[in-house]
Amino acid sequence: MANTMRVIQIGFGSVGRGFVEILQRKHGWLEQQYGTSISLVGVATRSWCSYDPSGIDLAVLRRAAELGDLEAIPARQPWTPAQLIQQAEAEVLAEVSPTDLSSAEPALSYMRAAFARGLHVVTANKGPVALHGPQLLAEARERGLSFGYEGTVMAGTPALRLGWSALAGCELREVRGIVNGTTNYMLTQMETGMAYAEALAEAQRLGYAESDPAGDVEGYDAAAKAAILATMLLGGSVRPDDVERSGITGLTPSDIATAAAAGERWKLIARVTRAPDGSVRASVAPMRVPITHPLASVAGATNALTYTTDLLGDVTLIGPGAGGVATGFALLTDVLAIGR
Ligand code: HSE
Repeated sequence: MANTMRVIQIGFGSVGRGFVEILQRKHGWLEQQYGTSISLVGVATRSWCSYDPSGIDLAVLRRAAELGDLEAIPARQPWTPAQLIQQAEAEVLAEVSPTDLSSAEPALSYMRAAFARGLHVVTANKGPVALHGPQLLAEARERGLSFGYEGTVMAGTPALRLGWSALAGCELREVRGIVNGTTNYMLTQMETGMAYAEALAEAQRLGYAESDPAGDVEGYDAAAKAAILATMLLGGSVRPDDVERSGITGLTPSDIATAAAAGERWKLIARVTRAPDGSVRASVAPMRVPITHPLASVAGATNALTYTTDLLGDVTLIGPGAGGVATGFALLTDVLAIGR
């Protein structure tokens, strides 16, 4: 007998659509493989809400959203996202509304309302985790609920789980690497001669960039991820504003050509370190990396993190860092973990 997880989702941008695509594509297989049936019963955005306690028709939903035809949204309800959280019969909230790195709202309030109703929360939304991660985790645990946020760093590539689970028993001294897909994609394209604006437009078209891409190119997105690694993985207390930060806006085609002539590549590097006294610091800055270094070969929207440990030395994880399905997969791993 399959264990059914009823999920409601707030947000239907690139990540939300990616998650729905995965649920539609893999529903039967997931049930067979893991004994967990994931039923999406509600989706709400600022413009529309769909709620069907027996499971939304995902094919119809995706087609209506693709065509921008709100009349065709199945099981449409006149509810706001907050009302969906209050009304829905569900076990899990998947929160994927646009991120806000200053206030974390409205996602923060949605998550708290979900916990108050006894729902687990899974998210790829960086604002609430970077600004209030430890408090949200404590609120979930007090109620015996889960708070999954694997998708906040390196999309579905298991950057947090690697540190928490596979490397458990090692002391993590440093985590450093490429955590922003947009800027890595842009730098890779600019090396082939593409202009900055064109590379950015392409990253937006591919669904990598934040709704305000300044967050990517000025390093705020990477700083939020560095704060999450520093606080939620290395046990520090680092907020995004504490991260020393510079982005890629100052890099010129001539900087890129000069580095190439010297056998180097520019990469936006996030670095989180724990000092012997236990203090944790984080920074984000463009750096010239020799092309023989593993990070130099990480191209496009791919991300990579090297974990420096006491027992294993360096361990490097490379994988997708942005994109709808790649990030939607992180939500799936968090939901499956709740099912287990
Ligand atoms: N804008 C982000 C990036 C999306 O480019 O990495 C994934 O967090």
